[in-house]
Amino acid sequence: METVIEIKNLTYLYPIGNKALDNLNLSVSQGERVAVVGPNGAGKSTFILHLNGILNGDGHITVMGMTMEKGNLPKIRQKVGIVFQDPDHQLFSPTVFDDVAFGPVNLGFSEKEVKDRVREALEEVGLSGFEERLPHRLSFGEKRRVSIASVLSMSPSILVLDEPSSSLDPRSRRELITLLKGFDITQIIVTHDLEMALELCKRVVVMDRGAVVADGNISEILGNEALMLEHGLEVPHSIRFTHFHTHDHEGEADKHCHTHCHPHPETHEHKERI
Ligand SMILES: Nc1ncnc2c1ncn2[C@@H]1O[C@H](COP(=O)(O)OP(=O)(O)OP(=O)(O)O)[C@@H](O)[C@H]1O
Ligand SMILES: [Mg+2]
Repeated sequence: METVIEIKNLTYLYPIGNKALDNLNLSVSQGERVAVVGPNGAGKSTFILHLNGILNGDGHITVMGMTMEKGNLPKIRQKVGIVFQDPDHQLFSPTVFDDVAFGPVNLGFSEKEVKDRVREALEEVGLSGFEERLPHRLSFGEKRRVSIASVLSMSPSILVLDEPSSSLDPRSRRELITLLKGFDITQIIVTHDLEMALELCKRVVVMDRGAVVADGNISEILGNEALMLEHGLEVPHSIRFTHFHTHDHEGEADKHCHTHCHPHPETHEHKERI
């Protein structure tokens, strides 16, 4: 599969001299959905701010064949949409419409195309009708959803989300998961929500102290208790505990639905009991 992000030996020191990234290496293929997890201060947000050149550490980054350098930034920023951890860093316009329209306007779309994109993006995050609201007067969860819409409106090829589910109520979180599942573009999802990561991603990257300390199959890695504890994480509930599910046995001679006990991960679809 084609590599769309390649990062080699990335090191970054904040101006006050603290090393937030320490020789980070990572590559991501087209269409992959990768979870990035790790303790507070691991460098996750610092890392993703390098993906469209907001921060510029030592090392080598290539995005869709383009080297991360000043001349390529406009093109790279069209391809990589980043939803920041703090919505207040994303929203700066007087109205929700202007915030969500900002990207499409900059990309030179017609007025009608801009309006259509804003409407669709707000619909996708469940905020239809919020166009004239003031971003700074929204609840935190609503701001988060406007932030996501402001990136979706640009139709990025690579979607990078920093803690997208934090502060979302269960219904909005579920809608977010469904939304992200529906996209076949490359996604990098930084999160402490390990259950969401398990639902969305086959691959996880664990970061600690500015570097990648594990990278691979999400169930194996998040199920590795020693590794999890060493890096300030926990084996998620759904992996730790054997529990009941009902599910169909599609294709079996006696197609039926029954309940039995098994641990995650399972490869079949579950039927919900409620
Ligand atoms: N603007 C800044 N100036 C100086 N140090 C910073 C700055 N932003 C972050 N840091 C430091 O860099 C390190 C990495 O921070 P970063 O925000 O990337 O971590 P994180 O993995 O995203 O954590 P969290 O899970 O809490 O969001 C931390 O030690 C943090 O204190
Ligand atoms: Mg962070």
